[in-house]
Amino acid sequence: MELRTVWWEDDAVCLIDQRKLPHTMEVVRCTDLAAVAYAIRSMQVRGAPAIGCTAAYGMALVAQQSVALTPSALLTELVQAKATLDSQRPTAVNLAWATSRMLRRAEAVASEGVEAIKHALHAEAEAIFAEDLAMCHAIGEHGASLIPPRGHVLTHCNAGGLATAGYGTALAPIRTAFAQGRPVHVFVDETRPFLQGARLTAWELLQAGIPQTLITDNMAAFMMQRGQIDCVIVGADRIAANGDVANKIGTYGLAVLARYHNIPFYVAAPSSTIDLATASGADIPIEERDPAEVTHIAGVAIAPQGVRAAHPAFDVTPNELVTAIITERGIVRPPYLAALRQLESGR
Ligand code: MRU
Repeated sequence: MELRTVWWEDDAVCLIDQRKLPHTMEVVRCTDLAAVAYAIRSMQVRGAPAIGCTAAYGMALVAQQSVALTPSALLTELVQAKATLDSQRPTAVNLAWATSRMLRRAEAVASEGVEAIKHALHAEAEAIFAEDLAMCHAIGEHGASLIPPRGHVLTHCNAGGLATAGYGTALAPIRTAFAQGRPVHVFVDETRPFLQGARLTAWELLQAGIPQTLITDNMAAFMMQRGQIDCVIVGADRIAANGDVANKIGTYGLAVLARYHNIPFYVAAPSSTIDLATASGADIPIEERDPAEVTHIAGVAIAPQGVRAAHPAFDVTPNELVTAIITERGIVRPPYLAALRQLESGR
């Protein structure tokens, strides 16, 4: 059975509280825009495609609750809601991609009246969710062929079902290869400071029965040196037009290590993560999060009180370190500027 990260139920946006996993499975009901915005900012829901889906449902919720009497008044509310949602997390482009698509849909049916906008936005949010799930399965089909015969894959953060509508991006080729009966063993980076690897990826792989070994982030180099890793597959929060990839902090280091050890470094992402309007990684905004997420784990201080800490939540991997990008429409290889443009024009 596939895990559902976010869904619409009884006039609310519901989601699994990913901050509580793996120990507690708790559902959060967001009944207004503020709750949806908080869920995204606080990482109750996280992962680029999942926050895109959540924001889409959030826009539908705003429309549903609106008492606007005219389409133009409702559109104004939706523009404000989009600004609120987009500002919660700046790096993952899927968020603004989803809210832009919702707004375009509202504008397209505005001439039919307020009720038409409400219906259209609900359907559009469901469509965004369903398309994301389908894209993840397609990424799995394309990417499975890249997993080397022994199947030792290193992944970072959580780019699994929890980070998407389901099935995942980086985990999709792994799931598909495993389902095909091929040997797979996943080395799961713990992913400091938020521990998405230890808490979420390890949990998902356990549920799926896929063999894994959890490692701390600083073990990856040694594992590669010992020949234990055959390839790296990670997700992405934004892929710039030139193929530079923003993903969870620590990804860039893995890409450098992979190059040194001659190990393929793959990025798996749906086309909603590709942002041709952003020329290169230098133009991608990097989210700075609360340093308390570095000095504390699960609310417990692990550093002396008053110490200064930094918390850039993402880094940028230069395109020359990326062996290939696995999308729902196929595998993209360098030179990325032309290849990504061609991929987008084929939409
Ligand atoms: O801060 P997070 O947990 O939202 O970061 C998630 C990642 O970096 C993922 O690798 C990325 O969003 C891809 S998820 C399919």
